[in-house]
Amino acid sequence: MNKVQWSDALLLGFDPMDKVHRDFVDLLATAQNADDTQLPAAWLAVVEHTEDHFGREDEWMRRTRFSSAENHILQHRVVLNVLRDGIGMARAGEFDRVREMAGELAVWFAKHTQSLDAALALHMRRQPAAELTRHRTKAVRHAVLP
Ligand SMILES: [Fe+2]
Ligand SMILES: [Fe+2]
Repeated sequence: MNKVQWSDALLLGFDPMDKVHRDFVDLLATAQNADDTQLPAAWLAVVEHTEDHFGREDEWMRRTRFSSAENHILQHRVVLNVLRDGIGMARAGEFDRVREMAGELAVWFAKHTQSLDAALALHMRRQPAAELTRHRTKAVRHAVLP
């Protein structure tokens, strides 16, 4: 299994995103190190955090009219749907499938962070300070959940 690991190569220089990415790595590492009894709850924690993580990024893109938003938001939606399927697998005792998914997520995360998220972080660093400090968590949830 490909184990997730934090590396400074994942740092993008936009603090709100870097923080959520560090937390994601911690949660995914916890899931990857979980035994069978711990895995369902650990996976659920990964999915819930990812809903918030992707929701924040989606909201930043929409609010600042980021030009590459459509593709990035679509990637988030597709990945999140797959991860949600893993909740049912974990509850059904299909632990090998969830662990395989976790390994694929670790690989996907590194690539996504260093490509689409890197472009978004650069864009966000160029926004006026007022845009960077606004948080609209409720709007995020509505935006990400169909
Ligand atoms: Fe991200
Ligand atoms: Fe992203």
